[in-house]
Amino acid sequence: MLIGIIGAMNEEVIQLKETMNLKETKTIGGYEFFKGELYGKNIVLVECGIGKVNAALCSTLLIEAFNVDKVLFTGVAGALNPEINIGDIVVSTDLIEHDFNATAFGYDFGVIPRMENSKFKADKDLVELAKEAGEKEFGKERVWTGTILSGDEFVASPEKIKWLRDTFNGECTEMEGAAVAHVCELLGKPFVIIRSISDKANHDANMNFDEFVKLAAQNSKLIIEGMLNQL
Ligand code: ADE
Repeated sequence: MLIGIIGAMNEEVIQLKETMNLKETKTIGGYEFFKGELYGKNIVLVECGIGKVNAALCSTLLIEAFNVDKVLFTGVAGALNPEINIGDIVVSTDLIEHDFNATAFGYDFGVIPRMENSKFKADKDLVELAKEAGEKEFGKERVWTGTILSGDEFVASPEKIKWLRDTFNGECTEMEGAAVAHVCELLGKPFVIIRSISDKANHDANMNFDEFVKLAAQNSKLIIEGMLNQL
């Protein structure tokens, strides 16, 4: 079994890269894919860059060039649910591209015209595994499961939080997960997105992000470790 692991930013993959037993590096389309072993499992690790297009291209390459069996995404997000705190974990049950807007044609926000499905469901077993690993590491009260929203926008306003909550009822927001999910669904690969909260998507979000991104990335990494040990 070969497991693909994606993070958007250097902070999100560096710790895994330093821990893994690197056997081969392959560069495709500007992305460096690191193949090797991590906690006894065969993995391919890659930093996809920020945003939905980067995430979609990179996950496509990961699946097509390496034929990974499962895709795990590790990274940080801004909380939308006011009960979720910085450092908490959100495991995706499903994901929506929140900036998809074809409402002019009568579609709801987030609905992609002419696709059967626009809400991409994560693999149940991987969700369970991530949840268990998170709860073991951080305790039940710090691990959440639910809808994750993705868009090409760093959300930093209470008004946008309210709109996203009211429209999609998402737990947190980030900039890649739904794109990875979209590709994995179309290419038939099981996936889960694991996000640790770096900020609360409000006016302080950029400052909180800078302060907490490393801690949050470390939290996501610990879950990947727990999951790989059980896979
Ligand atoms: N990633 C981390 N925090 C975020 C936010 N507030 N909006 C979008 N992506 C994020």
